[in-house]
Amino acid sequence: MTQKPAIQTKMKGILLAGGSGTRLYPMTLAASKQLLPVYDKPMVYYPLSTLMLAGIRDIMIISTPADLPQFKRLLGDGSQFGVTFEYRAQPSPDGIPQAFLIAEDWLDNCPCALALGDNLIFADHLSAALQTAAIRPTGATVFAYQVRDPERYGVVSFDETGRALSIVEKPKEPVSNWAVTGLYFYDNRVLDFAKRVKPSTRGELEITDLNRFYLEEGSLHVDRLGRGCAWLDAGIPDSLMEAGQFVHTIQARQGMLVGSPAEVAYRLGFIDADQLRAHAARMGKTELGRLLMQVANTVQPTG
Ligand code: DAU
Repeated sequence: MTQKPAIQTKMKGILLAGGSGTRLYPMTLAASKQLLPVYDKPMVYYPLSTLMLAGIRDIMIISTPADLPQFKRLLGDGSQFGVTFEYRAQPSPDGIPQAFLIAEDWLDNCPCALALGDNLIFADHLSAALQTAAIRPTGATVFAYQVRDPERYGVVSFDETGRALSIVEKPKEPVSNWAVTGLYFYDNRVLDFAKRVKPSTRGELEITDLNRFYLEEGSLHVDRLGRGCAWLDAGIPDSLMEAGQFVHTIQARQGMLVGSPAEVAYRLGFIDADQLRAHAARMGKTELGRLLMQVANTVQPTG
């Protein structure tokens, strides 16, 4: 019998996996970026595992009309992971906050997290940080990570007490090197805020403008990811390869899985050991299947 999950949140999750992936041409001419392999799993498995680690079980997957059937084929209705998937198309990539407008009826006034389909986060104690964000009653939570090239990202700066001061999208002259990662947690006002976001000079709705609404009312929590964490966005060939090498290194060295929704589902009690064994068997003779079987046979779910 599936055990009762340790974490329960009303929060829903959106996995945004659209866009044209032009920076990965020709790989993305005929395939969705978020379905490309990151070592031994499709890219989308990693942000999906992150949402699930937060305890989220109602997840909407948004992609292009052309790519959505492939996502459905890969992920199905979610029952193999003990979650529920809903699918919606984004006809054109008009901006990240558009996800909330596309999901309006499904959101049903619930708080909602958003994960970008090309973002991979690995950190010790990540699930505790995510679960805290998922049950926070008001405001928004984002995660910041120090990078060498902040001008490529949303950039957040802090005052001397560590409170977020400003947040700017792709600043030419960044005032800090803290990039905002592609994982966002919002209270149930997110849809109202998303409706107020106006297109930027590049013609897109910017997630940074949505985050600024929360910042200005003093309810944007910025959780800084420290030294022991890795955040990768797999949007260009170099970062795609680095992400794959990173996953390979950890899995080969430690024999521990990275970015496996089936493992997360089992550890959090969304599925039981028999369901995990069935999933592992479907992976055939792969190393992933072997590691999942090992988890089912040796690990007690902890939540
Ligand atoms: O990766 C984190 C960064 O993501 C943040 O630091 C930035 O603040 C945020 O704007 C975003 O910047 P990017 O330049 O990476 O955004 P991009 O337009 O590449 O979109 C990120 C992913 O979301 C990409 O995989 C495609 C998907 N996407 C994007 C847009 C604009 C969609 O599915 N639909 C869209 O309309």
